[in-house]
Amino acid sequence: MFVFFSVSISLRVVGISVPSLKQRGESVTLTCDYDLEGGKLYSVKWYRDNEEFYRYMPRLRPPQHAHKLDGVKVDLEKSSARRVHLRELTLKSRGIYRCEVSEEAPSFHSAQAETFMEIYYFPRENPRIVGHERPYFPHEPLDVNCSSAKAFPPPELQWHINGQKVTETSWLTNFEAKTASQGLMVSTLGLRAPAKPLMKIRCIATIGNHRREKTVSIVTNSADRRKASNFNLTLVIIICIFKVINLEMIS
Ligand SMILES: *[C@@H]1O[C@H](CO)[C@@H](O)[C@H](O)[C@H]1NC(C)=O
Ligand SMILES: *[C@@H]1O[C@H](CO)[C@@H](O)[C@H](O)[C@H]1NC(C)=O
Repeated sequence: MFVFFSVSISLRVVGISVPSLKQRGESVTLTCDYDLEGGKLYSVKWYRDNEEFYRYMPRLRPPQHAHKLDGVKVDLEKSSARRVHLRELTLKSRGIYRCEVSEEAPSFHSAQAETFMEIYYFPRENPRIVGHERPYFPHEPLDVNCSSAKAFPPPELQWHINGQKVTETSWLTNFEAKTASQGLMVSTLGLRAPAKPLMKIRCIATIGNHRREKTVSIVTNSADRRKASNFNLTLVIIICIFKVINLEMIS
């Protein structure tokens, strides 16, 4: 039907520019750079996952036409033969975007390029840590989890102990991401590192280079135990004094 880039002699699609990661609700301009090298433009068509959503044909009046697709809202005023502007991206906007350029007769050469666009949603909410509230004995393994806020795609999680990233895999428990409402996901990562005094643990959630984090302190029990044994000693002394007084009263 059409001749692909590899065998085309005049028409070249120089590049397609589609951001790899955009936030839900944002707008985006996708550009298709081509070089007709003397040929005449017949059409530029844009597809998401093989479904056409925009075409530009200079012979037609008007030359632009948009097809409705879920998650693809074309702003015709900001679109042209070389770019297409999409408004109000949703999680359904993610997919492989392709532009296909064709030349007029007699050559009908055609060339195309494609690339993937991911849509993310990452609320300001920090991740949540559970299991740190209770005191731990020194060396006792922690039993804490970190869960991201509802987001998409599922955020990557990392644990840090006193500023050092945990790389010891036997300390980490990867739980499968859970599906939440509206197609969002919650990631959970467990930490089973041995407790130590003055321990600060931080959980970092990331999507691309966007990051949310939460830091908590772990209370170890050694100080409490020392207090308790001091209390025991005081108790023993008091009991002894009472016994002595008792003995004196009897005699
Ligand atoms: C950590 O998460 C897993 C999976 O959701 C759960 O089974 C476990 O009880 C959690 N542990 C704590 C300390 O909350
Ligand atoms: C305090 O004394 C009791 C018995 O008198 C003992 O069972 C307990 O272990 C002691 N507590 C500590 C922290 O030494």
